[in-house]
Amino acid sequence: MATIGRKTDTWGSRFGFIMAAVGSSVGLGNFWRFPFTAGENGGGAFIIIYLACVLFLGLVVLMAEYSLGRKSGMSAIEGIHSLARAEGKSSNWGAVGWIGSLAAFFILTFYIVISAWVIEFIPQAMSGSFQTFAEQAAAQTAAAQAADPNAAAVTIADISSQNFVKSISDRLLVGFFLVLFIAINVFIVARGVKGGIERAATILMPAFFILLIGIVGFALIEGDAGAAASFLLSPDFSKVGFGTFLAAVGQAFFSLSVGSCLMITYGAYLSRETNIPRSSAIVASADTMVALIAGFAIFPIVFAFGADPAGGPGLFFISLPIAFGQMGEIGTVVGSAFFILALFAALTSSISLMEVAVSWLEERQGVTRPGAAMGIGFVLFMIGMGYVFSGTFIDFADFITGNIMLPLCALLVSIFAGWVLSRKMLESELGEGNVMNMWRFMVRWVVPPALTFILIFGSLDALQGFGMQLPGFLTVLLGPNG
Ligand code: TRP
Repeated sequence: MATIGRKTDTWGSRFGFIMAAVGSSVGLGNFWRFPFTAGENGGGAFIIIYLACVLFLGLVVLMAEYSLGRKSGMSAIEGIHSLARAEGKSSNWGAVGWIGSLAAFFILTFYIVISAWVIEFIPQAMSGSFQTFAEQAAAQTAAAQAADPNAAAVTIADISSQNFVKSISDRLLVGFFLVLFIAINVFIVARGVKGGIERAATILMPAFFILLIGIVGFALIEGDAGAAASFLLSPDFSKVGFGTFLAAVGQAFFSLSVGSCLMITYGAYLSRETNIPRSSAIVASADTMVALIAGFAIFPIVFAFGADPAGGPGLFFISLPIAFGQMGEIGTVVGSAFFILALFAALTSSISLMEVAVSWLEERQGVTRPGAAMGIGFVLFMIGMGYVFSGTFIDFADFITGNIMLPLCALLVSIFAGWVLSRKMLESELGEGNVMNMWRFMVRWVVPPALTFILIFGSLDALQGFGMQLPGFLTVLLGPNG
C-alpha cells in the first residue's frame, strides 16, 4: 500500500474555517432535532443537562478532535492510525475512526431525507398554503358536526399534521428534492475544501445569521413567549432518568458535530496559526445559541395552538407552519425565509458529513475527489430512497447513530487523546499552559467515566423504553422515564 501523506489542501482563511465549522454544527440538529428531543424529555430539565453536556463533554471532545486532526493531517481513520503508530501503540485504534466515520455516513443517509422535506416546505410556504389551515379546520369541523353534532372540533394543529403526513407521503416529489439536494452536495464537496466547502459556508452562514436575526426579531415582537419560557425554563426534575442523560449527550454531540471524527477531518485542513481552544469555544457557543433560539421560536407556537411538545420528528414541520399560517400575508415571507434558512443550515452540515467519507476515499490510490463525491452521492441516493419509500426507520436510525454511536466514538476518542497519546504529543496543538492542564484533566478523568456511565445506563433505560423487560433490580435502579 502506498503511504498516505498529510493533506495538502488547507482552509483559505481563519474566518473561512470558522464559517465551515459553525456551518457544520448549526444544522437540522438545532431546528429539527433539538426541539422534539427537548419536548420528549421534559423541556427545562433536559435543557440544563444538555448545556452541561455541551460544556463538560462536547467542548472537550471537540478540542480533542481538532488536535488529532491537525497533528496527523489526515482523514479520521488514517489520522488516528498514524498517531497511534507514531506513539508506538496498537494500530487497532484506527477502529475509532471507523466507528465515527460510519456514524457520519449513517447520519447523512437520513439527514438528506429531512433536508428534502425542508425543501418541499419552501414552495408550500411561498404559495401561502399554510394560510388556509384555519379555513380547512373550520370546514372540516363544520362537516364533522353536520354529521354528528357532538363531534369534536378539528383544530389547526390537526390540519397541520395532516399536511405534514401528506407532504412526506408524496414520495415522488420528496424523491425529486432528495436527488436535487444530493446533487448540490456532490457539486460542492467535489470542488474541494477551499473552493467548495469553505466558499459555500462563507456565503451561506452570514446569510443564515442575517435571516435568523430578522426572524427572531419578528417573533419577539409578534409572538407570545410566555408559555414557551415556562416550559423551557422551569425544570421538572421528576421526569429525569438515565435515558434523559443519554438523550442530552446524544443531542449535544449531534448538534456540535462531535463524535463522528468529522472535526478530525476538518482539523486536518487547519493552519498552524488557528487557535484550537478559541475556535472550539466559538463553534460551541454559536451552536448552542442557535439551538436555544430555535427552541424559543418553536415552543411558543406549539403551546399556543395545542400541538404536542413531544411530537417527534414531525414537530418542526407541524408547529411552524401553524405559526406562519396565522401571521397573514407576512407569514408567507417569514415562512419562506425560515425554511430557506433551515435549508442553508442543513446544507453546510450535510457537506461536512459527506466530507468525512470523501476525504477518506480520496486518500486511496486512483480515487479523485469528484469521483469519490459522486460515488458517495450514488450510494446516498439508493439508501435515501429507501427511507423515502418505506418511511418509518428514521427515528430508529437517528437513535442508534446519534445516541449510541456518537457517544461511543467520543468515549474512545477521549481515551485515545487522554490516555493513549502522551501529553507531549498534543502540546503542539493545545499549548503547555492552563488550557492544556484543564483539557487534559477533563479528557482523562471526566469525559471517559461520564460517557461510560451514561452509555451503559442510558441504553438500558432506552431498551426499557422500547418495551424490553429488564431484571427487577435494574428497573428499580433506572427509575422513571422508561
Ligand atoms: N451538527 C449538525 C446539525 O446539528 C449535523 C452534523 C453535521 C453532524 N456533521 C456531523 C452530526 C457530524 C454528527 C456528526 O444538524
